[in-house]
Amino acid sequence: MQFAPNAELVNKMDNDLVPEDLRKEYTKDEILEIEKKYLAPAVGHYYKDPVLFVRGEGATLEDASGKHYIDLFAGICTTITGYNHPKYVSTIQWQAERLVYTSSLYATIPYAVLVKRLAEIAPSGLSRSFIVNSGSEAIEAAIFMARKYKSNPYVVACQRAYHGRTTLARELSSAGWRTVPEGHPSGVRFTPYGYCYRCHFGKEFPDCDFECARYLREVIRTQTNNAIAAFIAEPIQGVAGIIQPPSEYFRIVYEIVKEYGGLYISDEVQTGFGRTGSKWWGIQHAGVDPDIITLAKGFGSGIPIGGFITRPEIAADYAVTDAFATFGGNPLSCAAAVAVIDIIQESKYLERAAKLGALLKKRLESLQEDHKLVGEVRGQGLMLGVELVRDRTTKEPAVQEMLQVMELCKSRGLLIGKGGLDGNVIRFQPPLELTAEQIDEACTILDEVFTEVEKGL
Ligand SMILES: Cc1ncc(COP(=O)(O)O)c(C=O)c1O
Repeated sequence: MQFAPNAELVNKMDNDLVPEDLRKEYTKDEILEIEKKYLAPAVGHYYKDPVLFVRGEGATLEDASGKHYIDLFAGICTTITGYNHPKYVSTIQWQAERLVYTSSLYATIPYAVLVKRLAEIAPSGLSRSFIVNSGSEAIEAAIFMARKYKSNPYVVACQRAYHGRTTLARELSSAGWRTVPEGHPSGVRFTPYGYCYRCHFGKEFPDCDFECARYLREVIRTQTNNAIAAFIAEPIQGVAGIIQPPSEYFRIVYEIVKEYGGLYISDEVQTGFGRTGSKWWGIQHAGVDPDIITLAKGFGSGIPIGGFITRPEIAADYAVTDAFATFGGNPLSCAAAVAVIDIIQESKYLERAAKLGALLKKRLESLQEDHKLVGEVRGQGLMLGVELVRDRTTKEPAVQEMLQVMELCKSRGLLIGKGGLDGNVIRFQPPLELTAEQIDEACTILDEVFTEVEKGL
């Protein structure tokens, strides 16, 4: 049987085939009205007057009125290849014409190619992947596997971390997102993260002897059966406000995790795929070899996909019934993710993130010299944060000022992210397609905006 006629039809990319109410030109007010009526009210948007984006290119977004914005947040640290990358779009179109979906009950080319490509770029020894649909699902799967492998329920997570919104992922998170009184019934324990600007122990780096890292031993000895299945941490906490501990934190923690027989899980949902510059994975900067890494966000650069990659002996324990997900490993998402890896390699994003990240950080540090609102500039590659404070001595979080900064940036055509327990940290996690000119323009806007907001301090 020939499939050609159908394929030919689709190849024409006949816009008339696209549902009419998708093609209609809406005003922002019309769309917000529909949302108000039919969307769960919990789905909130940034900004008092939300933006309606209709298209994008590189690191620029265009709203329904035709206004352009430099995007320094990539959705939420997701569109790593920018908007509309020709290779990305062509791959999705090409795959959609052939096979959007069949389950992993059957073999497909994109799933197989993707896991092979992942093994080629993963930290040494990690070669077995399982693909799901989101970061939360990846975390659930990784923890389930670690507990099963170690026959131990205990998992230690870091304070302020965010690992997702499914039940277990929420229990592992402490980024201030708890909305119902949840217990910790499932063996999750917490240890401090290395947040030097607001040290948990009131100490100063580097004279602190890394008490935050060493405290893990205390947590394990007093709150577990002297053994853990796993320790999970982000190499740089994203939602918490771009918090990056010194490398030594991870090396000390790693030693303790191994001493108590645990697996080291590096949650690379935000730090993966070159975002931190020079290396594929954030944890590689600390010189620690994780046992499992979890992936999502930039992995699909916008197409929903998540997963984990681990050592063969750990994956071997995972049963067929543990590893089923209806949409996990679907051809369309996997093909898009293969294109993302290709683009990162061909466009030398690892080098680009390092170079542009250094440039942006330098510019932000010079803004810190001129603006007392800027308490700290931190992060690595194109994962940078600026913590805003009302007073540099007391470090009182500049919560309202942060909201003003966001609104003023938006009105000048600049999109930034918000993070931190108090919501006072600017997050810079742009598409890696960003240009030096855009950094220049963005920093000029930030300079004006900080000046304006400081008038009220
Ligand atoms: C570090 C980290 N892990 C996991 C998740 C959960 O990912 P998702 O929103 O795709 O479920 C997030 C989401 O922000 C994250 O930042």
